Amino acid sequence: MMFRMKAVRLHAVGEPLRVEEIETPQARDGETRVRVRAAAFNRRDVFITQGLYPGIELPRTLGSDGAGEIEDGRAVVIDPMLDWGDDPHVWSPKASILGMPRDGTFAQYVVVPSGNVYPKPPHLTMEEAAALPLAGLTAYRAIVTRGELRPGETILIPGIGGGVQTFALLFAKAIGARAIVTSGSDEKLERARALGADVTINYATNPDWNKALKRGEVDAVVDSSGGDTLNKALGVLRPGGRVVIYGGTRLEATFRLFPLFWNHIDIRGTSMGSPADFRAMLEFVNAHEIRPAVDRVYPMEQVNDAAARMAQSEQFGKIVLAID
Ligand SMILES: NC(=O)c1ccc[n+]([C@@H]2O[C@H](COP(=O)([O-])OP(=O)(O)OC[C@H]3O[C@@H](n4cnc5c(N)ncnc54)[C@H](OP(=O)(O)O)[C@@H]3O)[C@@H](O)[C@H]2O)c1
Repeated sequence: MMFRMKAVRLHAVGEPLRVEEIETPQARDGETRVRVRAAAFNRRDVFITQGLYPGIELPRTLGSDGAGEIEDGRAVVIDPMLDWGDDPHVWSPKASILGMPRDGTFAQYVVVPSGNVYPKPPHLTMEEAAALPLAGLTAYRAIVTRGELRPGETILIPGIGGGVQTFALLFAKAIGARAIVTSGSDEKLERARALGADVTINYATNPDWNKALKRGEVDAVVDSSGGDTLNKALGVLRPGGRVVIYGGTRLEATFRLFPLFWNHIDIRGTSMGSPADFRAMLEFVNAHEIRPAVDRVYPMEQVNDAAARMAQSEQFGKIVLAID
């Protein structure tokens, strides 16, 4: 029998998101239906509402992150990476992310390939578990798989308010690295210190923030902010250091080439992560009992307030939607 559910849908670029009733999706062979209890925002969801994302097909239920229960009552989290492919080094041309073009987690039910459903880390609430998948996966691959961060190394994490960056900090500290973070907000820097940041610098009140650091004191940088961040980071990276980039919030970056080649710097791009990365990330989170930084939890009906908070970069960590 068909029944209906509540879902957050985007009908047209630039329009507010609508909470509406639609038909509940049915799982086919090889798929699992999850009763979503909490979902979380990523910058991608906001980029889609603004038309700044490739391959937008509308109307669509947004949302890549979700946690909930499957039919037998087990609590689960969802890996939002679909069709990664066979090569652990790079995703296949068929790869996509839950929530566009496939209907996502901002709904009472979502249907995903059964292989994308994993047990919820037992130490996390539903809200915390929903905050984990996309940002945790991206940060894990950036820090561990691509970043190869080792205990005792120093990592620079610019723009610590970002959902992925808060995980980068948590993972770096769990590895035993020293973490230098920047933010445009003193309040966010204080929260970062509470999560273990060793050095904190405000890039808004201190535009030459790189000068507060010693040349060569940084082994690795993980960034998604773009603009002049990379240029400044190159000045403090040690010879042979590495840069990992997973995003471009300001779309482009400008940097001088000299320090890059003179210091034999590696620039490594990364996006999301393979199924092996996701499994390793969950094991790591369980082993270290890592709790995501949850900024705020919004009821489904206030989804547009949640989107506005992210669009204005007001959050520290992850913005969560409670799905009733
Ligand atoms: N490739 C992938 O797989 C992947 C996965 C996830 C995200 N991304 C991309 O990565 C970016 C971040 O994603 P998110 O979901 O973590 O978004 P987010 O939570 O909105 O993070 C954005 C953060 O960028 C920081 N920022 C803004 N201007 C900055 C500047 N001038 N210098 C340094 N930092 C600055 C802000 O930090 P402060 O407020 O602390 O200043 C802000 O909180 C987005 O571009 C997203 O599309 C890519």
